[in-house]
Amino acid sequence: MSATRLPIALTVNGETITAEVPPRVHLADFLREELGLTGTHIGCEHGVCGACTLRLDGVIVRGCLVLAVQADGAQVETIEGLSDTGEIADLQAAFADRNALQCGYCTPGMLMAAQDLLRAEPMPDRDAIREHLSGNYCRCTGYQAIVDAVEATARSRGGRA
Ligand code: FES
Ligand code: FES
Repeated sequence: MSATRLPIALTVNGETITAEVPPRVHLADFLREELGLTGTHIGCEHGVCGACTLRLDGVIVRGCLVLAVQADGAQVETIEGLSDTGEIADLQAAFADRNALQCGYCTPGMLMAAQDLLRAEPMPDRDAIREHLSGNYCRCTGYQAIVDAVEATARSRGGRA
């Protein structure tokens, strides 16, 4: 007997996707393994590290805590989508300029979270940046350069969301 699979239809980075998925598959795994969108990283797999951060209907979530079936009917945006549209081109450039990444494992989630902050609060101070990124773990950089990069992006955007 074949394992149960449920039909889902969702939009991923603007593209309509239909699939049949096992009910327990997480959204991050679905994106990576079924759609090849490997920019959404998997770290802790229990909602702590933020490596799997993505947008679900405009709100950032932990992709390891959302089931793929829960995304049925939703709009999903991943780091590939934000990157391809150019939405975060300046933020990505600031990360590169300030050496805000080393191994890069945390970077997609960090960029998703940083952009989420800058959309909601275009000119955050350093404490607000640290607070907002506190759910995204980085084992390499010590965070200083990341905060620098987000602050520099906010300044260069001139307070525009
Ligand atoms: Fe999802 Fe760590 S892999 S929060
Ligand atoms: Fe390595 Fe952040 S750059 S975990």
